[in-house]
Amino acid sequence: MNNEQSASTLVSRTSIHPPEPFRIRVIEPIDRISPLERERALNEAGLNTLLLESKDVYIDCLTDSGTGAVTQSMQAAMLMGDEAYGGSRSFTKLSAAVEDIFDYQLTIPTHQGRGAEQLYVPKLIELREKKFGLQRDKMTVVSNFFFDTTQAHSQINGCNIVNAPVEEAFDTNKSASFKGDFDLEILQSTIEAVGAQHIPYIVVTITCNSVGGQPVSMSNLRQVYAIAQEYEIPVVIDCARFAENAYFIQQREEGYEYESIQEITKEMFSYGDLFSMSAKKDAMVPIGGILSFRTHEYFEVFRECQNLCVVLEGFPTYGGLEGGAMERLAVGLYEAMRQEWLDYRIRQVRYLVEGLRKIGIPCQQPGGHAAFVDAGKLLPHIPAENFPGVALANELYLVAGIRTPEIGSLLIGRNSKTGEQIPCPTELLRITLPRATYTQSHMDYIIQAFRLIKDNVDKIKGVRFTYEPPVLRHFNARFANVE
Ligand SMILES: Cc1ncc(COP(=O)(O)O)c(C=O)c1O
Repeated sequence: MNNEQSASTLVSRTSIHPPEPFRIRVIEPIDRISPLERERALNEAGLNTLLLESKDVYIDCLTDSGTGAVTQSMQAAMLMGDEAYGGSRSFTKLSAAVEDIFDYQLTIPTHQGRGAEQLYVPKLIELREKKFGLQRDKMTVVSNFFFDTTQAHSQINGCNIVNAPVEEAFDTNKSASFKGDFDLEILQSTIEAVGAQHIPYIVVTITCNSVGGQPVSMSNLRQVYAIAQEYEIPVVIDCARFAENAYFIQQREEGYEYESIQEITKEMFSYGDLFSMSAKKDAMVPIGGILSFRTHEYFEVFRECQNLCVVLEGFPTYGGLEGGAMERLAVGLYEAMRQEWLDYRIRQVRYLVEGLRKIGIPCQQPGGHAAFVDAGKLLPHIPAENFPGVALANELYLVAGIRTPEIGSLLIGRNSKTGEQIPCPTELLRITLPRATYTQSHMDYIIQAFRLIKDNVDKIKGVRFTYEPPVLRHFNARFANVE
């Protein structure tokens, strides 16, 4: 064991809160506006924190997507960009990094995660149709839990959605090592009920964002892939937070404690046929995505995706990205897997969750990228249709200038065929931590804000729509308070 490993072991095995494993050399000043100005700003935003202007936000925990710091190696790599329209050497570098890290051979860069989704979703459906002549009205896709854009792309292409989280996933009173796991019985029974020919793909989301950034175990990944292979259904790994998932496997799953993040990553990805990555999370870039296929088995689909890429994203050797951005991403994929970095990142989330729990705020067990507060439990007087998560997000902004999103009934939305609200197991508020952006004192400030909120919870009001968009409604919805 070298010195670097022993230092990180000291941090991961003790209760010492790890100091930031980096030096801050460029800073972005932030302002805290007055409570009266915050009230005005929130009203102008239609009581939707997503619609606030950044200048009115003090601590921005809306997302970890493209909002974190980049490393100096990533910044330096940008200068090496080859902006050739076709055959850019920056693309060659990115594909080589993908092959080296994940062992995937056929890569298409995209502008972000949803760019990859808009390519593979229709093409895997067409493949199934050609192979089995599927009935469009029966078409169903299954996931441990779909992220909202993956769900939306599947729905606008006519698929029914089945989420198959394990039973304990949303129970914030229960701890479990791998709450992101797929429920294998639901997976198998769905395939049997719908018929494998009507299932164009299975999506494994790692870590599982919607259940609280919770990891999926290696054994679950292996079993899902075995079931999918039995029925000849392609498995897509939705892998925005692949390195965090590998870290949890290393820390929690027997047999992996002495494996490196790189080794674990390679094995995780051997249980998929293609991956779709929003590189704005673990890969630490402000913009970027990747669609990649493991082998030539799906070469025809890859080629079709390349053709669609020309229309929707750009020529397939740059996708939606400039050459410099592909160089930066190639470096970011490696930076994401640094052991010391992951120790720090996951411990920061844990510090926040433990601090909140200590003052009586109900939270999902700590996951990878955010603290998830159980807003339904904290505000039992607000029914799901009046969105307790939105009400809590608004209160947190008014009290302390902290911006957060709801992850609950608003986000999960309506059944696209019946128009009915999809039942949501838990109403959560997500306090998302951008990478290397906020320090321990920011975490303490957030905990202090919840102390103030806790004293007045019964005065917090639910909300109702004044404008409800037809899809992905949380982005542009506007609300009024319910009296
Ligand atoms: C699991 C997961 N999949 C897909 C996406 C979509 O990626 P993007 O926002 O880059 O389009 C996200 C973004 O948050 C995500 O967390």
